[in-house]
Amino acid sequence: MRKKIVAGNWKMHKTLPEAIELVSELKNKLQNFQPACDVIIFPPFVNLESVSELLKDSPIHLGAQNMHFEESGAFTGEISADMLKSVGAEFVIIGHSERRHIFNEPDEWINEKVKRALKKGLKPILCIGEKLEEREEGLTEKVLRRQVIEGLKGISSEAIKNIVIAYEPVWAIGTGKTAAPQEADSAHAFVRAIITELYDSDVAQSLTIQYGGSVKPNNAKDLLSQPNIDGALVGGACLKADSFIEIIKSA
Ligand code: 13P
Repeated sequence: MRKKIVAGNWKMHKTLPEAIELVSELKNKLQNFQPACDVIIFPPFVNLESVSELLKDSPIHLGAQNMHFEESGAFTGEISADMLKSVGAEFVIIGHSERRHIFNEPDEWINEKVKRALKKGLKPILCIGEKLEEREEGLTEKVLRRQVIEGLKGISSEAIKNIVIAYEPVWAIGTGKTAAPQEADSAHAFVRAIITELYDSDVAQSLTIQYGGSVKPNNAKDLLSQPNIDGALVGGACLKADSFIEIIKSA
């Protein structure tokens, strides 16, 4: 049985006071409710330390939205895995489509980041997903296959136990267009089949594969009840405590 993970990617939202307000509200509202899923939030870097303090007596886990693949060095503006660990992050999002397509991160960097995160004891959420034009040209499976194979290069079947994959079709992110539940489920099943090829079926069956892309309180239940969808990576709807909690309850 795979435990579902509902994660909130705050992206470039929330100043420190706003972050404190949202986390306090989340904690309060979740106080009398024991989520059946794991919950992770991904605030911006500058809020991690304060949010980590607030989460000390809470079941909510903490992650960062990105990191650099080198251990340290002259990389102005970048953040290392050790820095993230030192402020309490357990997870890190790697290869988000906004990193791939706005900041032109290639598969090689993403793979280096996954390896560095694992080496440092951070759990990567590796994001994959096709763009609209790729889907329209019938290239979805080809793109997913490449992103999975390249992203996981050199990762052992032992290490992959600490990785989560998030399938986020780029055309569904921030657009209000969600993949139909069965459509998303078949993409997840395809990813699981690639993992079986690369590793074995035990590894594939125990891998958590989240769906992301316009997950909202009104569609979460349908998506999360699909057999291959093991959770949600939520953008817009995680910025308000009530809508994020609704999604957590759906899981
Ligand atoms: P939205 O839920 O706003 O579509 O964002 C999804 C996402 O990119 C999460 O990482």
